[in-house]
Order: sequence, then structure tokens, then C-alpha cells
Amino acid sequence: METNHISGLHHITICTGTAQGDIDFFVKVLGQRFVKRTLFYDGSIPIYHLYFADKMGTPGTVMTTFPTRRTGQKGRKGSNQFTVCTYAIPKGSLEWWVTHLNANGIATSEPGVRFGQRFVGFQHPDCGIDFEVLEDEHDDREPFESPYVPLAHAQRGFHSWTASVREIEDMDVFMNSCWNFEKIGEEGNRHRYRVKGDAAPGKIIDLVHEPDLRQGSWTIAEGIIHHGAFAVPDMDVQARIKFETEGMGFTDFSDRKNRGYFESIYVRTPGGVLFEATHSLGFTHDEDEASLGMDLKVSPQFDDRKHLIQQAMTDDPIVV
Ligand SMILES: [Fe+2]
Repeated sequence: METNHISGLHHITICTGTAQGDIDFFVKVLGQRFVKRTLFYDGSIPIYHLYFADKMGTPGTVMTTFPTRRTGQKGRKGSNQFTVCTYAIPKGSLEWWVTHLNANGIATSEPGVRFGQRFVGFQHPDCGIDFEVLEDEHDDREPFESPYVPLAHAQRGFHSWTASVREIEDMDVFMNSCWNFEKIGEEGNRHRYRVKGDAAPGKIIDLVHEPDLRQGSWTIAEGIIHHGAFAVPDMDVQARIKFETEGMGFTDFSDRKNRGYFESIYVRTPGGVLFEATHSLGFTHDEDEASLGMDLKVSPQFDDRKHLIQQAMTDDPIVV
């Protein structure tokens, strides 16, 4: 659906352990394509920034990781943070996924049912971040043809992301008034939001109200989800969202940052879950479609030291 506002989920960015741990999990278990190998654009310590998605990096399928173990920083899970990333799988595929995850040494939770859809939980085996696969019979997005997952069972991209919040009513104001989401359901302490008037896949955020849960950490540190990014159609819309959100009093909003493949702005939502509004620039402007993810694309702050940086990163080797 065309919109002049936030249109859905774009990418989620997580702080993991090692680059190889991410390849093994996202490519070889979840069946994503490794589409970009670059570095974190902020700070003076080089950290990989790896992108996994469908064939072309379609918004709503893009997982991005900072393998952080080499810095020694450990994160703390908690509230006011994204806590779970849920991929959509076809109806009837849950048993296949449980067998597949277990065969790869990944323990699974007891299957559950949420808003009438079956799901199972598990963790990234290298860093403990929480994931789910959920059967969504309405998701008709074309999956990536992975050699590791049969097409009939392939995940379609993100069904939803879950965030834990201590103050649900303040976040409700933000979701409605700033972020173009409306509440569509409630189950226990879980409040479901979806892009206003849009039932297409990849549009859902669940807020779990946990007023007594200690706040999670915000640093780039192993074992936590750093932020979730939402798609905007262009940079004029992006600028207007920032302007109007600041007009509501939410002034913890960054300037626009060029991330090579996105133009991004970041806002601390009530309590502290970090949201981004992003405009895609595509993944093929610095390598062609067939070669996506093959070469390290050094981020701008290290441009004058490209050779040294490439040598420095060999402590975290990547075998695809
Ligand atoms: Fe991001």
C-alpha cells in the first residue's frame, strides 16, 4: 500500500558474537542470503556490519548484525529494548522448523499459539538473542531460494518484532501519534500494533508490558538487539516524521545519517526502545547482484586505512 508515512518493518540490527556465528545461523540455518559485508559507520573501533536478507535486500527481510565479541562489550537484556525477532513461515511448516533447528544443535521452546498462529522460540546459538518462527498463512512474499532450506518451508521475512516496555501508555501515544501504527489486539501483557490500515505482511510490532523488568543496555554490546528500523518512502516523508515527532515533544531524534545503503534517522521512544526511520538506497551501487556480500566494503571513517582495517578484521574470519 502506498503511504506517505512509516510503511512497515525495514531492518533490525543486533549485536552478536562472531561474524562466522552469524553466517552459520542466518545463512545456513534460517536460509537468508548474505547480501553485504561492511563495517559499523560510527566510532573508531572497526566492527563488522553484516547484512542478511532475501535475494535483493527487500525491506522487511533485512537482518543486520554487529559481531561484537572482539570489543569485549557484553549487553544486558531487559525492558525498553527490542527483545525478540520473529520470522514468518508457511502454515504447516512448524514441525519441519523444529526438526531443522534441533538438527543444527539449536534447542526450541514448546510450540505456542499467539493470536491464533503457531510459533516456536529459540536463540541465536552464538550470542543468545531470542528468535521465533511463526506460521502466517497470509504471508505471500516470495522467499529467497536457499540451498539450506526447502522452498516449501522457507521463511518469508519478518512477521513482527517484540519490544518490552515499562510504560505501555506512553508508548501507545508514540505509536499512534508519531509512528503511524494502531493497536489491533491484546493478549495477556502483549499489545499488538500494526501499520494503520495495512494488513500486508511485515507490518507488526508487539509491545510486551513488563513494568518491573530492569532496563536493557543500549550500547553496542554482545547479546542484545540494538534497534529496529522502519521504512519510509522518501527523505521528504522522513524529514516530516522527525519534524512532527519533535513537535510532540520527543526531541531525542538524531540528524539524518548516511549508512551507505540507507539514509537513517534514529529516535529514543518513550522508555528507550531505539527506533529508526530509514530510506533504502539499495545494495547494488557498490557491487553487482551476483556478487552481493563477497567483498568487504570499508566504511567511510576508515577509507584512508582500508588495507590496515582489512588486516585487523582477520581475527574474525568469514567462510561462506
Ligand atoms: Fe539501522
